[in-house]
Amino acid sequence: MVVVMTPEATDADIAHVVEKVESVGGEAFVSKGVVRTIIGLVGDIDSFHGLNLRSLPGVANVHRISDPYKLVSRQHHPDRSTVWVRGVPVGPDSFTFMAGPCAVESPQQTLEAVEMAKAAGATIMRGGAYKPRTSPYAFQGLGEKGLEILAAVREATGLPVVTEVVDARDVPVVAQYADMLQIGTRNAANFGLLQAVGEAGKPVLLKRGMTATIEEWLMAAEYIAQRGNLDIVLCERGIRTFEPSTRNTLDISAVPVVQATSHLPVIVDPSHASGRKDLVVPLSRAAIAVGADGVIVDVHPDPETALCDGPQALLGAELRALAQAVRQLPPALGRVDA
Ligand code: E4P
Ligand code: PEP
Repeated sequence: MVVVMTPEATDADIAHVVEKVESVGGEAFVSKGVVRTIIGLVGDIDSFHGLNLRSLPGVANVHRISDPYKLVSRQHHPDRSTVWVRGVPVGPDSFTFMAGPCAVESPQQTLEAVEMAKAAGATIMRGGAYKPRTSPYAFQGLGEKGLEILAAVREATGLPVVTEVVDARDVPVVAQYADMLQIGTRNAANFGLLQAVGEAGKPVLLKRGMTATIEEWLMAAEYIAQRGNLDIVLCERGIRTFEPSTRNTLDISAVPVVQATSHLPVIVDPSHASGRKDLVVPLSRAAIAVGADGVIVDVHPDPETALCDGPQALLGAELRALAQAVRQLPPALGRVDA
């Protein structure tokens, strides 16, 4: 940590900062410049936080040098991690294709969507039984009945299930059926829910909050990790910007930025990022090119009748194009063996 003093700071102000730091067992190294003095702190950063250094007389600013997230940072865990979802890897040595319906609507619709996804090469199926909707009048998901459908489709297809949990009270029931728990963009700062999934004993897919900075996203992951669960996959799904031509703006640069900062795998959701089926394939190609560890995509056997997010669901030619991209591009880029 570095404390920057104001140009007007007195020797007494500087001595006061040093005294405070030493009072909690830290060391303070004072460096006097022509205009300003800076003080480098060495010691336990958490004890420095309790000092409220920024409020002391003569202090202009306090800067952290180390990451505020510890468990998910590469500073403490240099090698990139692989998360296993019922035997399927998500990490640096693979490229994982997850797909399925946005929402579980019926046994037939879910089975058809997941069979399409599997035929296209998906190895993990997605599907929401609890849907986070803007309107309380919109389809909210089938709840536990939807989880039962997902379990039956897993039985039929062999694909592990990732599904969203929107309320901490539902974590036990969702964890009973799911292989991976999803935290959606709207709950990415619901700290009680993050802690609850951290204790659920299942891998977690953590979407980026639509207004979250990368640091806030990684701090959300830290909430899960702090409860003893490091099986976390991060998902860039677009952020809110001023641009209305896509539902969100896919922050493609977040992928390598996060991979350089955190050891956790990072995948991309081009469906929720764009909200447009015509953009899912180009954005998936971009995700692969930038080094994402996988993609998660919506498919539906009849998008026109979908109860949620029909305009972004793939079918037919678009799904075939996606299948080709996820089959051919990762090996071409040297990511996995052909
Ligand atoms: C929810 O599951 C959808 O993916 C999406 O968030 C729905 O948004 P909407 O309720 O505004 O349609
Ligand atoms: C979803 O994947 O079903 C979903 C609602 O995604 P997001 O939270 O990214 O909007």
